[in-house]
Formats: sequence, C-alpha cells, structure tokens
Amino acid sequence: MRNAIDRRTFLKQAGALTAAASLPFGLVNVAWGKKPTEKFTFAYISDAHITQIRGTEFVANFDKGLQRAALELNFLDPKPDFVVFGGDLAQLGKREEFEHGRELMKDVTIPIKWVIGEHDYYLDLGAYWQEHMAPLHYSFDHKGVHFVALNSILTHDEWTFRRWPTAQERMHQMARLDNPDGSPFMVKAEQREWLKKDLAKVPKDTPIVILSHSPLYKIFRPWNFWTDDADEVQAILKPYQNVMVFHGHVHQVLYNQIGTITFNAFMATAWPWPYPVTYSQLPNKVPEITVFMNRADPFKERDGTGWGNITMDGGEIHHYELWENTPRTVEKMPGMKYPADTKFQDPKSRIPAQTQY
Ligand SMILES: [Fe+2]
Ligand SMILES: [Fe+2]
Repeated sequence: MRNAIDRRTFLKQAGALTAAASLPFGLVNVAWGKKPTEKFTFAYISDAHITQIRGTEFVANFDKGLQRAALELNFLDPKPDFVVFGGDLAQLGKREEFEHGRELMKDVTIPIKWVIGEHDYYLDLGAYWQEHMAPLHYSFDHKGVHFVALNSILTHDEWTFRRWPTAQERMHQMARLDNPDGSPFMVKAEQREWLKKDLAKVPKDTPIVILSHSPLYKIFRPWNFWTDDADEVQAILKPYQNVMVFHGHVHQVLYNQIGTITFNAFMATAWPWPYPVTYSQLPNKVPEITVFMNRADPFKERDGTGWGNITMDGGEIHHYELWENTPRTVEKMPGMKYPADTKFQDPKSRIPAQTQY
C-alpha cells in the first residue's frame, strides 16, 4: 500500500516539475541555439547486478529492484521517449544473468538504450551484449539533442588479454570493488578518435548528452570511481556549449560541473555504495556541490536504491526516484553555474543523517 501511495505522489510531483520547467520560448531559443528543441523526457535505470546463484535461482532482492523500476516506468505519464539502461545488468557477465535480466524487463514498452558496464563486459568482452543488446559505443539524434553512448570501462590490453589465466578469473577480479590487482577504466584512444569524428558533424550549440557507465571524471581510484583518460575525453567535449554526462556505476546521488560539462549519476536498483569520503580517509574528489543522500538504512531493503527520469526543456531536470528514501531533484537550467538540488542544496534545508546506527 505504501508503495502505491509513493508512486502516486511521485507522479503528481513529476507532473508539477514538468510544468514548472516550462520556460519562455525566447529563453529556450537562446539556450538551445538556432533550432528550438522539443521538450521530452527519458528515463534511466542502472546497475541491476542480476546474480545467478545456481541454475534458475537468482538473488531475489536484485531481481525485485529491476522488476520494480521496470513496472514504475510503465506508469509514467507522459511516457518517456526511451529508457537508458546505464550498465551492470549482470553481476558476472553470464549469459544466464543477461537473459534473466532481459526477461525481467520484457514488459518495458519503450525503446531501451543500452550502455555497457564492467560487470557486463569482462567475461566475454562484450560478445553477448553486441549480439543481443547494442553496440559497445554508438550515437543517435533525438529531438534536437545528440546522444552518445560510450564504453568507458575498457582498460589496459595487458590486464584484459594477458594477465589472467581464464575469462572467469578476469571477470571476478574486475567485479571486486577495492582491488589492488584491479585496473583503471578508460575510454581509450581508438574510441576517443571515433568520438571526435562523431562530434565533428555536430554544431557547437547542439545539446549533447553523453551516456557512460563510469563517471567521466576522477573521484576515487581505489574503487574505480574514476576514468583514467577522463581529461582527454573532457577536452574533446570542451568546444560544445551544452554537454551533459549521465552515468551509473557509483550507485549513489552524485553530480558535478567541470567547465561546460554537467555530470549526473543515477542510482542502482541493486544496492547503494557509501561515499568514498565517508568510508575511506584516502584522498578523493567527491564533488563539493553534491548534496549527499542521507545514509541508507540497512533495515529497509530498498533504501539507497532507485531509478530516475530526466526532463530536457532548455536545460535538464533530473528526478531521482529513491525507494524508501526522500526523492531528490537536481536541476541545471540556463544561467545556472552548476547543477543544484532544488530542495536541499541549502545546508539549512538538508535531511539530517539517520541516527539508528
Ligand atoms: Fe554497478
Ligand atoms: Fe559498474
């Protein structure tokens, strides 16, 4: 019952937000260049980590997260034009996990734009993904916005092709969070060249949305909250006036602004990660502008998980639908220097940390 009420409240809130975001036409024109962009929404589900135990048995909690996101998506009004899946559909890259995950999403009636995560890649190096879901990187245009899906979880050839005796061992190593034998993520030179060529035909004032799995900046290397050639990728994006990067992988509310590039993370449907700054004393660069999510409550199965949707209307309004926690909205509209949480950016308005630990 509680969930049903939450969903209705959310739908009402989402409707109000959409109305509030309607800008005077002139302003939209200024912000979005010569061709006014049609308003639209898309949804974002990420990090389902479907995990096979044995045979047809899978970790039920992770299954339920993905099922719930897929179900709520179908209730959205207006219907989003498409949904991005932000990577880590599988836990250990197995065919059984992919097929089970796709089965759980079978009732999604809008197109799915797939972005590959490291848990999807390091068993068969993207073979299943390319055959059944999507290329590892690609671009498309939608209502005046240029979208690019990148494979941001590549790493050194030595690590990928020579270091591990079996594909299973390689997958297990990459699936660990705090791994001294791990290797940093990269977009790599070949894909950066493709990106340059892809963007060469795009006018500088066209809004660009980059979909990556890892953040395209450097937060905390020991956990691979990090893309090693992020600076080079940012340099390619620098000449463009409106660039937004949406990513998964970090399993938490996280947003940032570097130059003209806005970054937004999405929640996982599987489990939340802590913020490196709250967990480790090692140097890290969690963005100062990010208002942390109040701590996940371990007694609530779905706290710290969720999904989101984005309204593009001359800017971006990113709504986090957080199950068992307070929904959050992060906006970056024309004239704003950095994205901000409309309700909680002011320290006086923040939700106090949970105290039952
Ligand atoms: Fe993940
Ligand atoms: Fe990941």
